[in-house]
Amino acid sequence: MRITQITVVFLFYWISYDLSCNEAVIFKFSNAVCKSFNESWFLIHQCRIKAIKRNVNTLNFNGTVLYPAYDIFVHLQVFKKANGYKPWLFNVTVDGCRFIKRPNSPFAMLIFNLFKDFSNFNHSCPYMGPQLVKGFYLRHELLKLPLPSGEYLLAITWLFDRRPQFKTDVYFVFTE
Ligand SMILES: *[C@@H]1O[C@H](CO)[C@@H](O)[C@H](O)[C@H]1NC(C)=O
Ligand SMILES: *[C@@H]1O[C@H](CO)[C@@H](O)[C@H](O)[C@H]1NC(C)=O
Ligand SMILES: *[C@@H]1O[C@H](CO)[C@@H](O)[C@H](O)[C@H]1NC(C)=O
Ligand SMILES: *[C@@H]1O[C@H](CO)[C@@H](O)[C@H](O)[C@H]1NC(C)=O
Repeated sequence: MRITQITVVFLFYWISYDLSCNEAVIFKFSNAVCKSFNESWFLIHQCRIKAIKRNVNTLNFNGTVLYPAYDIFVHLQVFKKANGYKPWLFNVTVDGCRFIKRPNSPFAMLIFNLFKDFSNFNHSCPYMGPQLVKGFYLRHELLKLPLPSGEYLLAITWLFDRRPQFKTDVYFVFTE
């Protein structure tokens, strides 16, 4: 009985501590900059951050692949702000068509898990037509990575046939 009470009290404090910690966490987009390098293959119609409530910003992206892309590489680099944006930890290139069949990069998996539910990207190659991300907001519960507080840039270059076709640079803030 006594042990149960102690356990309950402990659990109560632990849960409220956990909740108060979570409340303090801010993980949100601050800016997005996208650019096509080849408008005869990839068009960008929208690439925008929208504030929907305090500390929740969504990312909306709308692009079109004009000819089927069978050979896709994704180059992901993370930068952290400290007197300008400096390279930080991750600099990874992933074979997109292979990844979508059998995810092999834990870092790419982490990123993909954050946004896959908001996009139409989860299918095998080729990629063709509308490429959409709608109402994507960051959820720190899915961030299985200890991240120091700060301002970050995730710079992604998308390559078709081994040549850069467009980039999506996404800025975000993490504080706890
Ligand atoms: C740009 O896109 C066109 C149309 O798909 C393609 O033929 C051409 O090779 C691309 N240019 C580069 C530099 O990738
Ligand atoms: C994406 O942009 C195209 C071109 O402007 C537009 O026709 C289409 O309706 C947009 N799709 C969505 C889901 O907003
Ligand atoms: C990532 O690696 C590539 C190739 O090794 C290099 O050219 C690039 O400068 C690196 N990027 C960063 C941010 O360190
Ligand atoms: C992608 O979709 C398939 C089928 O809908 C699902 O089985 C798979 O788990 C999804 N992949 C990821 C990485 O979510």
